[in-house]
Parts: sequence; C-alpha cells; structure tokens
Amino acid sequence: MSEAAIIDGKAFAEGLRGRVAEFASQFEARAGRKAGLAVVLVGEDPASQVYVRNKGKQTVACGMNSFEHKLAADTGEADLLALVEKLNADPAVDGILVQLPLPSHMNEQKVIATINPDKDVDGFHVVNVGRLATGLPGFVPCTPLGCVMLLKDRLGSLSGLDAVVIGRSNIVGKPMAQLLTAESCTVTVAHSRTKDLPEVVRRADIVVAAVGRPEMVKGDWIKPGATVIDVGINRVPAAEEGKTKLVGDVDFVSASQVAGAITPVPGGVGPMTIAVLLRNTLVAAHRNAG
Ligand code: GUN
Repeated sequence: MSEAAIIDGKAFAEGLRGRVAEFASQFEARAGRKAGLAVVLVGEDPASQVYVRNKGKQTVACGMNSFEHKLAADTGEADLLALVEKLNADPAVDGILVQLPLPSHMNEQKVIATINPDKDVDGFHVVNVGRLATGLPGFVPCTPLGCVMLLKDRLGSLSGLDAVVIGRSNIVGKPMAQLLTAESCTVTVAHSRTKDLPEVVRRADIVVAAVGRPEMVKGDWIKPGATVIDVGINRVPAAEEGKTKLVGDVDFVSASQVAGAITPVPGGVGPMTIAVLLRNTLVAAHRNAG
C-alpha cells in the first residue's frame, strides 16, 4: 500500500478565508457597514487567549469588524448574560461567540441559551442543534462543518459511504454524525463504551477521530484506502527533554501507511475552525441584513 495523500487543511482554510474576504467586501458595499463578530473571553486561560487573538486577527484580515470583550475570571454570571443581551441588540454585531470553557461558577448552557440563535455562529444554541437535526437552515458548529468540507473536497459525493465518528461531544461528535447522515453516509457513533472499537473502525470508509486521546487510533484499525479525519489536538512530551509537541487522536505514522488520505496534526482540521467561523459570521450578516 502506498503512503496516504495528505489533506492540507491549512491550504483549504486559506482558500476559504479568501472567498470569505471577497463576500465580506460585497457585503460592505451593499450594507454600508462591515460584518461584525463579537468574541467574549472570560478569564485568562492561555490556550483560549491564543484562540481569541487569532480569531480577532483573521476577522480583521477578512475585512470584518472584530469586537473583543475580555472579562475577569471572577465576573458574575449575571454580568456576562447582560453583555450577551447587549450584543444581541447591537446591529453592528452579526455573530456572537462566547469562548468555552467558562469558569466553573458559570452555567455554560444558560449562557449559550441567551445568545440570539440567529447570531449563534458557533451553532451551539439548542435552536441551531434542533435545526441541524431536522434539516432546517441554521448555524452548524465550525469544526465538524470544516471536516465535511475537507471530506467533500477529497471524495466528492459521500453518499452510501460507511462513516465511523469516534467521540460523541456536543461540539464535534454529535453534529459530525448529523452532517454525515445528511450527506447520506451510513454513520456509526463510537465512544469510550464501544465494544471492539478497532473492528468497528475497520469497517469505515471515513473515520473521524474526536476523542482527545493522543494517537489512540492505530494503522491496523484502518481499512486500506479509507479517508481519515483527525480532530484531536493533544500536547504530549517530545523526544527532546523538556519539549512538547502536538499530536492528534490518530497514530499518524502507522495510519498513513494504510489510509487513502489523512489530515495531519497540526495543519489539518485545526485551521478550518476559524475559517468556518468567519464564513458563518458572513452568512449571519447577510441573513440579518435581509
Ligand atoms: N473553545 C474551543 N473551541 C471553541 C469553539 O469552537 N467555540 C467556542 N465558543 N469555544 C471554543
């Protein structure tokens, strides 16, 4: 078996951001204002700070307004809810993203439920979850939508393919399964209680790994020629003393000997999330501007 083709999510995301920038300038010409994304960060989690900084930079680079709201870690839930209500009412704000995780004294579901579903560019609000489940237009979570874009770019039609999604989170696994079902795949959702996971994965033409366990999926679990999408981003110790490196949920070295195509970590799914967020924000702007 030859080496798998590498699915270059970084290049795809760049292309998507280029298309978003074109549509953003068309929106500005038509609406007389830029599309706007508000990002709310509560606390000082270093990984979240990096994400939020990158989101802000890429939003501006695409010709949209970025409104960043940084709140102290001990902010009361009522104050955060009041900010979300203010953003709901602000006509300059098309999309609202509250960075997760929130500090433990806040109820994430309550905060998400306060976002206007038509500004919920993360697709986390129950109204958007329900819209996805019933096939109505709405907002779809960015990471799984990015995975489907990469799959369709690689494979064309996904109709009739066997897909295994490993992981059942609200942010990735569950919406991923819905999207693949909508593409007429036969979908299996596997998780920590699945019996004989390697055997289940071996049946799949498409494997989506979103469990958060470094290099768990091995090459001998993969059906020859299958397409492997690795959503995991795990920081682990590197060979060199004191250094760390990023790895996915898939053992890339062994899986790439068997798969037909595979996303690397980093440079695969990761860059797609923000690109899809910007795309969702522009869709929100067009819908909200009527
Ligand atoms: N934290 C990590 N990824 C995400 C994301 O896609 N959206 C939000 N709101 N928080 C996150």
